[in-house]
Amino acid sequence: MASFADSITRSRVWRSFFRHGMPDNPLDRSLVMTTNVFFHLHPVKINLKSLRATYTFGLGVLTTILFVSLAITGVLLMFYYVPTVERAYGNIITLQTQVPFGQLLRNLHRWGAHLMVLVVVLHMMRVFFTGAYKPPREFNWIVGVVLLILTLGASFTGYLLPWDQLSFWAITVGTSIASYAPVIGTPARTIMLGGPEVGQEALTRFYALHVMVIPGAIALLIALHLWRVRKDGGLAANDVQD
Ligand code: HEM
Repeated sequence: MASFADSITRSRVWRSFFRHGMPDNPLDRSLVMTTNVFFHLHPVKINLKSLRATYTFGLGVLTTILFVSLAITGVLLMFYYVPTVERAYGNIITLQTQVPFGQLLRNLHRWGAHLMVLVVVLHMMRVFFTGAYKPPREFNWIVGVVLLILTLGASFTGYLLPWDQLSFWAITVGTSIASYAPVIGTPARTIMLGGPEVGQEALTRFYALHVMVIPGAIALLIALHLWRVRKDGGLAANDVQD
């Protein structure tokens, strides 16, 4: 007689979630991995050497985790922040002094951003030193370079949002340096600032870039980046010298 557990695992509802029973051979194990949306994120087979903690130092995954944490703390900050020159600075002071855990929230976002820049550079260095940029991974290296630029862009645009003296002058100096680039320099500065100097138009543009455009692009590119790691045959552990 079928046990209670058997009747559950054979039920239609159960099988609509879990399409297989307990796999007991390599083929079934692969099938379970490829037909489950959560399991399929893990490759069926991996290179043993790539399991060594010192191969990647977990830097790519750490960057991804930092991005997710920045997205969450960023959305929470948006509950309190209004991007206008009259209110932005005051909002940040109120957040830090009157909102429960507001100071912690701001610091998590700020330090997370600093850490993400550091970790992404370390990740790029590890990819370089393990030779993982070589074919067939050259496309993923390019995706990585764009991710690096976007990460720096997120930091730069976020810098203006507290609207304090540091923000104002950092963006004034940063965009002035950009304007020295040949041909595109001055138009690029005007497009960034929405006018001749840092003011409300710049704050609006930086805010839109910081909370929508850049994080959206980073999220899409991380998905592409991780998918490419899989399609290029997993981590390039073959290139590691023993
Ligand atoms: C937001 C930024 C980034 C995120 C979230 C990210 C994430 C990841 C993850 C999770 C992996 C697999 C595990 C690991 O290597 O730790 C990976 C691999 C890789 N990343 Fe990144 N990455 C980023 C930026 C970059 C940059 C700046 C470069 C280079 C310019 C780069 C190039 C690569 C390459 C070539 C691989 C394949 C490595 C291999 O096969 O061994 N990534 N990335």
